[in-house]
Amino acid sequence: MCEENLKHTTIDTEITPLSAEVISSYLGDGDGWGPVAVYEQIDSTNLELKRRGASGATPGTVILAESQTQGRGRLGRNFFSPRGSGIYCSILLAPTDKTEEIVLITTAAAVAVCRGIEAVTGKKVEVKWVNDIYLNGKKICGILTEAMTNSTTGEIDGIVLGIGINCNAVFPEELQEIAGNLRCKDGTAVERNRLVAEILKELSSLKTMIQTRSFLSEYKERSMLLGKWVTILQEPESRYRAIDIAENGALVLEDPHGKLRWLSTGEVSVRITE
Ligand code: BTN
Repeated sequence: MCEENLKHTTIDTEITPLSAEVISSYLGDGDGWGPVAVYEQIDSTNLELKRRGASGATPGTVILAESQTQGRGRLGRNFFSPRGSGIYCSILLAPTDKTEEIVLITTAAAVAVCRGIEAVTGKKVEVKWVNDIYLNGKKICGILTEAMTNSTTGEIDGIVLGIGINCNAVFPEELQEIAGNLRCKDGTAVERNRLVAEILKELSSLKTMIQTRSFLSEYKERSMLLGKWVTILQEPESRYRAIDIAENGALVLEDPHGKLRWLSTGEVSVRITE
């Protein structure tokens, strides 16, 4: 990787390149991930994994990129993905025939990512329903889970779990208020290969976490919404208190009159108002 290029988009100049070999060396044989491929630049690791899935890639395949030209976020948003300054990673999971499980995959994966981050950086991170991870009030990670639908049969052939983590990015002005970087407790840059491996290790138990809902209590403990008044961005006049995360991963809201509402599709965003 060209060091000169890195200087313009990252805080640190000494960034260890992402490496499939290094990541694999951190993983145990029993973790079940691979093959792992690293791209210098790609449109989107989620899109690439869908393309690979359509041509026979197997569950467990992991794609990483040093930069993305069309990094995708939830609700059609972009995910800022400059060169060498983050982790842009997509993982192919076995298909599920229940589309409602996608919210559970996202929420369980969020817990796995938080655990990986804490193991590597020593920093305590929080979750904002449904798919965002925050450090010190700023978003440092987003998760985008997408079904891979077979164009001929219409069936779901696999699930693409996309994880984007900001490590050392210099953000454009419009993102500076909301986006942050993950750094280690001593202020040094995150060792990205190790972080990817730790997250993959945590994700090894994703299926069990979802089946047993064992992640839910931790998701709630890490939630930055529970107990707070929130508004649904798509309904600017709305006012609710976020009171729980349901067994199906839905955010449970209570309006000022005590009426409950469940947000489960993930097609909305909420913002804390108090
Ligand atoms: C969000 O913030 O709404 C979700 C962001 C998800 C970004 C990751 S980066 C790797 C993968 N490839 C993409 O195009 N998106 C996800």
